[in-house]
Amino acid sequence: MLKYLKKYWFFCVLAALLMVGEVSMDLLQPDLMAEIVDEGVLKSDVGLIVRVGIRMILFVLLGGLFGVLCGVFANLAAQQFGNDLRKELFSKVMHLSFQQTDRFSTGSLVTRLTNDVTQVQHMVMMSVRGLVRNTVMFLGGIVMLYFQSPRFALVAACAFPFVIIFVTFFLRKASPLFAVVQKKLDGVNHVMQEDVAGARVVKAYVKEEHELNRFDRANEELCSTNLRVQTILAFMGPCMNIVLNTCVILVIVLGGISIKEGSEMKPGQIMAAITYLAQILHGVTFMANIFQIFTRAKASVDRINEVLRCPVVISDGKGETEAIKGKVEFKNVSFAYPNSPSNLVLNDVSFTVNAGETLGIIGATGSGKSTLINLIPRFYDAEKGQVLIDGIDVKEFTLNSLRGQVAVVLQKAELYSRSVEANIRWGDDKADPWAIKSAAEIAQADDFICDTEFGYHTMVTEGGHSLSGGQKQRISLSRAVLKNSKIMILDDSTSALDLKTEAAFFGALNRNFPDTTKIIIAQRIASIKNADRILVLEHGSVASMGTHEELMKASDLYREIYHSQLKEGGEGNA
Ligand SMILES: Nc1ncnc2c1ncn2[C@@H]1O[C@H](COP(=O)(O)OP(=O)(O)OP(=O)(O)O)[C@@H](O)[C@H]1O
Ligand SMILES: [Mg+2]
Repeated sequence: MLKYLKKYWFFCVLAALLMVGEVSMDLLQPDLMAEIVDEGVLKSDVGLIVRVGIRMILFVLLGGLFGVLCGVFANLAAQQFGNDLRKELFSKVMHLSFQQTDRFSTGSLVTRLTNDVTQVQHMVMMSVRGLVRNTVMFLGGIVMLYFQSPRFALVAACAFPFVIIFVTFFLRKASPLFAVVQKKLDGVNHVMQEDVAGARVVKAYVKEEHELNRFDRANEELCSTNLRVQTILAFMGPCMNIVLNTCVILVIVLGGISIKEGSEMKPGQIMAAITYLAQILHGVTFMANIFQIFTRAKASVDRINEVLRCPVVISDGKGETEAIKGKVEFKNVSFAYPNSPSNLVLNDVSFTVNAGETLGIIGATGSGKSTLINLIPRFYDAEKGQVLIDGIDVKEFTLNSLRGQVAVVLQKAELYSRSVEANIRWGDDKADPWAIKSAAEIAQADDFICDTEFGYHTMVTEGGHSLSGGQKQRISLSRAVLKNSKIMILDDSTSALDLKTEAAFFGALNRNFPDTTKIIIAQRIASIKNADRILVLEHGSVASMGTHEELMKASDLYREIYHSQLKEGGEGNA
């Protein structure tokens, strides 16, 4: 974390110095008060009371000014630090591989980005202000106490070991629970995130009560862990007070004895000593709170570092893809998801698609179609075998250039809360409005976009809920078309289009992008019937491959799918 704080060392030092100034002013007050009592009140010297009183007020004002400035600089350091840390963490999250995001879960990543960063930010703030304040208060208090009477300083010194014992005891008990609190917070965020995002499904299945209960459970767990921590810490205050009050009694007794013995001791000095003692012990109590914040922040630091130190699992290659033609080849590829390594999702898959060809992929749900295409832009890396583009292993290319030449329309159309135009523009940042319109025309989206009141400026709501399934798919398709890359992959991306619109889209795609390699996953044979070749995937293996006609003759599975679709939807469907 120091790496991120280093940039703001100047603000930290300045804030710390100002804090020393503020505490010094506070430390002078009891001494001045003693002077007022002993020299002014007891000797009825009004002039002295006024003079010292004015000095006290001036010191208070100066202390206040130092305090305000310290707050400003400490905040500047802490906020900027938090800002940098959050930025770095977010950038890391954006670059995590799919496999790593699966592992962390969205809820936990959100907690780490928000609450954990805030905890660490709070720690920085407390280090600069609280730690300095209370250290100076503690040391300065002892010095001032010593000046009142060395005996009093001895009282404070005797009290100190007790304070340390109490603080260590309670913090030891509480600190393991801080990590648990953050974990429980992950749980609450996880349920919240899932239910807010999936609110429609919750309503459709009338699961509000069920989800409320799930949330209640997560919330209760968070609450009870927090309560356990707070109960432990609640003992700390009273224990400190016992130590403080014992010290006060001792000071009064020792002071009384001194006065009785006829020493120089005056009542004002005893008063000042009591105030210094209170300041010292409050300083220590506060310090205990700061340690508590540190222990809590340590749990957060560990959680943040866990993300920041995630190894790069999809490493960058060096080659560029600009000159590629678009031939895609799978050579004996096997793959299992890292979270279930024993379940081979792809098993010895080999095939070739030449540049400019169209490959259709068909197979039962769960047969591994999406997994297969995920390996081309390296969302995951093949475990065994090779995925090649123009004969070069995809791992040889830089990720940016590889993904720049592979346009993927994922199975679940993801849209963002911005205008339709901005959503399509993701395909090419520099595209002018005409290019966007013509991409939308190819994707059969232009008509419905123009029919809306604001056309291309229509705002899409979060997750694209303001659009129909087919409209969402067509905007996603427009985005991929606009990208104009050498390889285009459509993962069941036309499933919500009627057959006529789908045929119009494929017709326009072939006319406009004859040289682009197209890999099209479909559930309906009608969608891929005209492809140059069709791959039939069965339980992660290539069952057969060929043109529609060839497969109709050679593949039982393909014929089976064809006839079942014929039965379901008539000739048009297959
Ligand atoms: N992120 C993941 N982690 C673990 N297993 C996964 C993951 N994604 C998919 N799987 C598993 O891999 C298998 C293949 O899934 P995949 O999504 O490739 O199927 P699909 O052929 O695209 O199916 P569909 O036609 O329903 O889209 C399934 O058994 C699925 O449970
Ligand atoms: Mg799929």
